[in-house]
Amino acid sequence: MNEQFAKDVIEGLSKQQKELSSKYFYDDSGSRIFQEIMEMPEYYLTDSEFEILSLQAKQIIDAVNFNQPFNIIELGAGDGFKTFKLLEYLVNNNVDFHYVPIDISQGAMDDLTKKLEAKLPKLSIHPRVGDYFKILSKENVQTNIPSLLLFLGSNIGNYHEKEAVNLLQLFNDNMKKGDALLLGVDVKKNPIIVHNAYFDKHGITKRFNLNLLLRINREFDGDFKIDDFDFYCHYNPISGDLRSYIVSLRNQKVLLKKLNISFDFAYDELIWTELSKKYSHDEIENLAEHSGFKVEKHFLDCKHYFTDTLLVK
Ligand SMILES: C[S@@+](CC[C@H](N)C(=O)[O-])C[C@H]1O[C@@H](n2cnc3c(N)ncnc32)[C@H](O)[C@@H]1O
Repeated sequence: MNEQFAKDVIEGLSKQQKELSSKYFYDDSGSRIFQEIMEMPEYYLTDSEFEILSLQAKQIIDAVNFNQPFNIIELGAGDGFKTFKLLEYLVNNNVDFHYVPIDISQGAMDDLTKKLEAKLPKLSIHPRVGDYFKILSKENVQTNIPSLLLFLGSNIGNYHEKEAVNLLQLFNDNMKKGDALLLGVDVKKNPIIVHNAYFDKHGITKRFNLNLLLRINREFDGDFKIDDFDFYCHYNPISGDLRSYIVSLRNQKVLLKKLNISFDFAYDELIWTELSKKYSHDEIENLAEHSGFKVEKHFLDCKHYFTDTLLVK
């Protein structure tokens, strides 16, 4: 049994305002649903970051300015769809580097490795499955060649302000002098565009959220009835917080047999599942400064919806 997941589920569902952490979205089927989200036209985040990495790969690598060989260590690589453009640029230009994708999902890492081995046979790839916090300290301290860390896809937006600072500080602590971090950040924009990306009319984001209940059923022998729950999300354009919720559609009790515990859900009660924070440029500067980084350069897409920001120690 995944003890940490069990502990977090019990703690989260025992709170006055119930919550479940979005980091548990990504079991193998959650990772596949997330790929569907990324393919939705409304989910501008993928297109924007894809454009940046496709059109500005050279500028990014020039700005990093490493001696060769070097590492590219990707934290939470997922399907690597966008990173592919950066890797392709490097391989096609005979740059000497090693790609180390890290992800908690075995399925995601297997698919990514297979795909990259077929499409970029010359790529030196060393996948690692597990928690990036644990793996990063092992991987990066052991090597004496410089590393470019990638933390893409607005992953940082899933963390509260203080947690985001702590996380970047932790990355910073595990970076050698001269290493760099490319941070993907979703930028504040017209709230309607943000709203439509998350409250999608196809119901894919709803399926992604409810998959978490299916995962709990599977891992803890639970009896969540998926049709008795719905999905809602809300964007606050001032704070930049997009918050996602699961809604209980009736009074109900859910038993998690393996954990020997049950939870009551009231009619219309909410379970908070995810924060997807959007940042202003000033907020990014602040975040970098508080975690010991300096902003080297922002790489923006043509609509200025998204930035891959290069941070140095
Ligand atoms: C929002 S997705 C982003 C994927 C990819 N970076 C992108 O931009 O499309 C987050 C990914 O991080 C992984 N992940 C989340 N928390 C993790 C952790 N603590 N350690 C390793 N991987 C993690 C998930 O499995 C998922 O593939």
